[in-house]
Amino acid sequence: MILNNQRLREIDRNIWVQDQSFKYWGLEVGTRMTVIRLVGNSIILISPIKLESQTQENISKLGTVKYIIAPNLFHYLYLQEAKNIYPQAQVLVVPGLTDKQPEIAIDKVFFEDEIDFGSELEYILFAGFRVSMITQAATLNEVVFYHPASKTLILTDTAFNFDGEGCSRSESISNHRVDRTFPWLTQLGAKIMGSYDTLQPSVLEKLVIEDREKVQASVEKILSWDFQRVIMAHGSIVENDAKNQLKKGYEWFLNKNLTKLK
Ligand SMILES: [Fe+2]
Repeated sequence: MILNNQRLREIDRNIWVQDQSFKYWGLEVGTRMTVIRLVGNSIILISPIKLESQTQENISKLGTVKYIIAPNLFHYLYLQEAKNIYPQAQVLVVPGLTDKQPEIAIDKVFFEDEIDFGSELEYILFAGFRVSMITQAATLNEVVFYHPASKTLILTDTAFNFDGEGCSRSESISNHRVDRTFPWLTQLGAKIMGSYDTLQPSVLEKLVIEDREKVQASVEKILSWDFQRVIMAHGSIVENDAKNQLKKGYEWFLNKNLTKLK
C-alpha cells in the first residue's frame, strides 16, 4: 500500500484530516478529507472520502456531522454515501453540481443559498480557474475555505504539493507516525507538471487558465487571510510559510509579481 496513513488525524485544534488512496491519470496522488468542528460540536466534512466504519466511529467521537461539502465540481464521489450515513446533515455544493450530478440529494448551493458558518469558517469562490482533463479543460468552481482559529487555508484542486518525503510537519508535530510517501512515478509526474515540492497548480492548469484577472482577484483575497498552513486534497500539507509558498506558486502561475500583497 502506498498511502498507508489512512486514519483521522488531528492537524490543529478542531481540525482533522484523513487521506485515502486515489489515482489520477494513473498516478497515485491520494485524496484528503478535511474535518472541522464548530462551536456546539457541529462537524463539517469537506470533500468526504469513503467513510469506513472506523472513520465513522472516530468522527462520532468529535461531534455530530451537520454539513457535507463538495468543494468543487470534481470532489463529489462519496457525497451521497456520506449523506446516507448522516441523513441529518446538509449537503452543500458548488454552483453547477446540481446539473452535473442530479442524482445527489443536495440541500444548498454556495453563493445561491444562505450558507453562513459565522467567523469560524470563511469561504470564497476561486473564480477563473479551470482544470485540464485528458481531452478538455473544465471549470472547477472551487470554494476555498479559511479556518481562522487554526490559521489554515483549505484548498482542494487549486494547488498541489507532491514531495519526496511524504511527510508534512503537522503530522510530525502531532506525534503521529508518518509513513506516507508519494511513489516515484507521482514524484516524476509532479516534477514534469511543476508541482514537485512546491505549492502551486500544475502546468496543465497554467495552460488552460480561464480568466487570469479573476484568478488573480481570488488569490489576492486568499492572501489577505491570515493563514500559516495549507491543506490541499492532493499532496503533503504545508505547515510553515504556506502563505509565501502559495504566493510564489501563483506568481509562477500568473506570470505576475504579487509582492505588493501583504
Ligand atoms: Fe482533486
